[in-house]
Amino acid sequence: MTGQTPLSDTPPWKVSALTLFPDMFPGVLGQSLAGKALQAGIWSLEVTDIRSFGVGVHKKVDDPPFGGGPGMVMRPDVMAAAIDQAAKTMPADTTRIYLSPRGKPMDQALVRDLSQASGVMLICGRYEGLDQRVIEQAELVEVSIGDYVLSGGEIAAQVLIDAVVRLLPGVMGNSDAHQQDSFEDGLLEHPLYTHPRQWAGTAVPDILLSGDHGRIADWRHNQAKAITRERRQDLWQKWCLSQDMNKNID
Ligand code: ADE
Repeated sequence: MTGQTPLSDTPPWKVSALTLFPDMFPGVLGQSLAGKALQAGIWSLEVTDIRSFGVGVHKKVDDPPFGGGPGMVMRPDVMAAAIDQAAKTMPADTTRIYLSPRGKPMDQALVRDLSQASGVMLICGRYEGLDQRVIEQAELVEVSIGDYVLSGGEIAAQVLIDAVVRLLPGVMGNSDAHQQDSFEDGLLEHPLYTHPRQWAGTAVPDILLSGDHGRIADWRHNQAKAITRERRQDLWQKWCLSQDMNKNID
């Protein structure tokens, strides 16, 4: 287990990660905000080495796919034993996520939900993936971090952990900052400016120096809408629909 005794009474947000490469954890999460939060006991990490549940003298964890095809498939008996072991230290209702390019896309709503739970179990696959029977039997929720294929689930798991940990109370100094995050209100975030006021022949927009917080908020909201409409038609359509629905409710 990595992490220290919590400084507050709040129990840590518990991560149980299952992997063939335990040394990959905490990885980048040992640094910066997430690393400090781990040290402070705001979250904890337990890593299960899937290899130790492998079968035979060679601790075999994979076999070729039935029906033929390239690569290897992670065996259900090995995975089930690893999951059962890891589950012993987690509450019974812990969500079990299998990181997979075939999963439902991770978004800020999922991240927020997970940050409000007591923790999460993250199953990192390698090779071609897990035998379908263990996905179903262990009720794994398949989650993808994007439409591209990584060489394993570890980096995807760390992306998910990072996104959740920054939402945990006490991790970011100013918790209001989350309300401004991209996606929190369904739009991408507005552009940001800081000193110097003039840089490379370009000035900071006057409105941001006006001190008129109402007009600044309107300007930012309009910028957020314009950027979202230009870059992300999918989010823009959803946002427009949500505005229409709110109008109908009022
Ligand atoms: N494992 C391999 N590719 C992945 C992806 N895009 N998302 C989550 N897990 C993965």
